[in-house]
Amino acid sequence: MTHRIAIVTGASSGIGAQTAIRLAKDFDGIVLVARRGELLGQIAGEIQGVGGAAYTIVADLHQPAAAEDIVRQAIGRFGQIDALVNVAGAVPQMNVLQMTDQQWDDSMQVKFHSARRLAVHAWPYLMQTRGSVIFLSGTAAENPKPASAAIASINAAINALAKAFAEQGIQDGVRVNAVLPGPIWTDRRKAFLEKSAVASGDAQEEISRKMLAQFGIERYGEPSEVAELIAFLLSEQARFITGTAIRIDGGEVKGI
Ligand SMILES: NC(=O)c1ccc[n+]([C@@H]2O[C@H](COP(=O)([O-])OP(=O)(O)OC[C@H]3O[C@@H](n4cnc5c(N)ncnc54)[C@H](OP(=O)(O)O)[C@@H]3O)[C@@H](O)[C@H]2O)c1
Repeated sequence: MTHRIAIVTGASSGIGAQTAIRLAKDFDGIVLVARRGELLGQIAGEIQGVGGAAYTIVADLHQPAAAEDIVRQAIGRFGQIDALVNVAGAVPQMNVLQMTDQQWDDSMQVKFHSARRLAVHAWPYLMQTRGSVIFLSGTAAENPKPASAAIASINAAINALAKAFAEQGIQDGVRVNAVLPGPIWTDRRKAFLEKSAVASGDAQEEISRKMLAQFGIERYGEPSEVAELIAFLLSEQARFITGTAIRIDGGEVKGI
């Protein structure tokens, strides 16, 4: 195996945490980024516990200067970047008539602009290693609803952004793909169910069953299943895959 280094944002929980753990099997060093340092330390400890190298960076991706600093620290620690996985995101589920300008701006800053800035700053290093970028989008982009207007719009923008980077990457030797999860069983989703149960007075199991019926699927996806797809897309086996937006949704999206 050649020496390879990956940056994973949103690595303190959910899909990002599982991705960092999974990539540690294929990469020689993982840079884990999020705000909650204690959780990052736990995930890094898990990676180090099985002989991997992990470096944590506590950063608020809402801050425009964070991206350049993360790339500088990653290069300082490991000397190269082979993969960038943009997972971090915090977009509220709110009706389009109620969401404020500030909430739109905050959501765009963290999920869209931080991913864009990280890709820009990491690009020269990714060119050196003929590396790869993953942007986490989501199936909401293909099925916008009033209550998911922000995440749907931002995911659609990410799909376009990923494609633009992929086009640039054809000449620069960098592969870029978007991954579109459907409903994945993470803390964010658990919290949403808890909140809905309190608001409606219904049992969480009942709400969960109704939601799955609405999605038209049998179960939620696991974060580890998304991590496995990301690992494949970053692998040598996927060397002819670039510029795609790949769903992992258990069949939630009914169109083809
Ligand atoms: N779960 C799903 O069903 C689903 C479906 C489609 C797409 N997605 C996408 O997948 C990604 C991960 O979702 P998840 O369900 O795994 O959610 P999650 O468990 O809430 O993870 C979100 C991650 O983003 C980080 N983050 C949020 N705001 C940040 C900030 N300002 N600066 C730095 N890091 C920040 C969080 O870390 P800290 O709080 O420690 O900063 C956390 O690690 C999101 O982009 C989401 O849109 C999820």
